[in-house]
Amino acid sequence: MKILIIDDDEAIRDSLELVLRFEHHEVRVARDGEAGLAALAADPGLELAFLDIKMPGRDGMEILEEMHRLRPDLSVVMISGHGTIETALEATRKGAQDFIEKPLDRDRVLLTVRNVQHLRRLKGENQALRERLSSTSREMLGSSPPLEGLRALIQRVAPTTARVLIMGENGAGKELVARLIHDLGDRSGKPFVDVNCAAIPSELLESELFGHEKGSFTGATELRRGRFEQADGGTLFLDEVGDMSLGAQAKVLRVIEEQRVQRVGGNQSIPVDVRLIAATNKDLRKECEEGRFREDLYYRLNVVPIQVPPLRERPGDVALLAATFLAQSAGRLGRPPLELAEPARAWLERQPWPGNVRQLRNLMERCAILLDGPRIEVKDLEGLTGPQAAAAAPDVFRSARSFEEFKELSERLFLQQRLQEHDWNVKRTAEALGMQRSNLYKKMERYGLK
Ligand SMILES: Nc1ncnc2c1ncn2[C@@H]1O[C@H](COP(=O)(O)OP(=O)(O)OP(=O)(O)O)[C@@H](O)[C@H]1O
Ligand SMILES: [Mg+2]
Repeated sequence: MKILIIDDDEAIRDSLELVLRFEHHEVRVARDGEAGLAALAADPGLELAFLDIKMPGRDGMEILEEMHRLRPDLSVVMISGHGTIETALEATRKGAQDFIEKPLDRDRVLLTVRNVQHLRRLKGENQALRERLSSTSREMLGSSPPLEGLRALIQRVAPTTARVLIMGENGAGKELVARLIHDLGDRSGKPFVDVNCAAIPSELLESELFGHEKGSFTGATELRRGRFEQADGGTLFLDEVGDMSLGAQAKVLRVIEEQRVQRVGGNQSIPVDVRLIAATNKDLRKECEEGRFREDLYYRLNVVPIQVPPLRERPGDVALLAATFLAQSAGRLGRPPLELAEPARAWLERQPWPGNVRQLRNLMERCAILLDGPRIEVKDLEGLTGPQAAAAAPDVFRSARSFEEFKELSERLFLQQRLQEHDWNVKRTAEALGMQRSNLYKKMERYGLK
């Protein structure tokens, strides 16, 4: 295990280091809290810190809090001197795992380390289990030939660390593919971190990706680890990569080449081990030709291209998707099951689906909310999709139980309709409505429109 010792007393540092090294642990030492925090920030591999309570400058309790903010996953064991046992107990209530007392007892130290290791292993297994459970709802449905082809490709690239560029229309399933690649690969127990490059204003994107040092710009009141660091050991998903500014592109390229990141306003470079998966609905080759996307970055990202076929090219998947979404929505709303009449199913299969699977899912959700069932007919679907769809809006008047709910339902319907009119292109919809794109993204997330 990689262990950090923070103590102002050299004799304690040395003896603790000796004991731990003897057991083949990797050890770093720091003589005060500030140095300890810096060591932590520089080395994401540190798993455990021994932290002295009484130190000149900022004491152990203060540093403990900061550590939690910086590295919530770090295990901390307090080192307590005579007369600080009370404080040590309080520290365990604040998230320290344990404490040891001076003078140090070798066996007690080693037992504590073993306990920490045991707990960390349990936590890791627990998280992996939870992720496996939640990924069942992330199942990729469909058995059409294009989808089977996609599935085979995912299975082939998942166990590698090759960079993947996922292309496809809005709502076709690019993010789902990215998550599957992560879940099926060796990194599945490690973080999957996604960044939506279109949702973050370009002036903030760099600090989002690379982090920033405290005080590096106005508003940077605290040190912040960037997405690359957060994804260390795992996968970083650069969604809507075609919307990244040229400035950020240059920096991402450098990180890929050096496998190190530098925080904004910082001067040390931190090693990161990250698998990159990028997605876009733009034609990146054309973006390159027109000077909006760096060609060198394009080639770096596009080691394995994956094209997610639009839904209209795999009508064979529509029925299964529709039935599944319908059952899910009805279940969530606590409504009796609905079923599609045969002609309604055929009608769905003939639609062009510009918003792809997401559009189908939203339509099924609207069915579950607005229709009485139990059978859904073609005229129901036409009523919910055609230009007359707006006529369904008055239902909001009847179904809302409070003013708040009314406002939310109508806002949701309004945004959904406008998004649909713009083929679910967030940028264009936001422009048409005179809204900030980030604001629209927030609302979409809130209403599950995305
Ligand atoms: N084959 C599938 N089976 C089940 N659900 C799917 C499938 N494909 C897509 N979905 C669902 O459809 C929705 C849209 O998919 P996703 O977000 O992956 O699309 P996207 O291509 O990233 O869209 P955008 O371009 O808008 O970012 C998600 O809720 C996803 O879970
Ligand atoms: Mg997406």
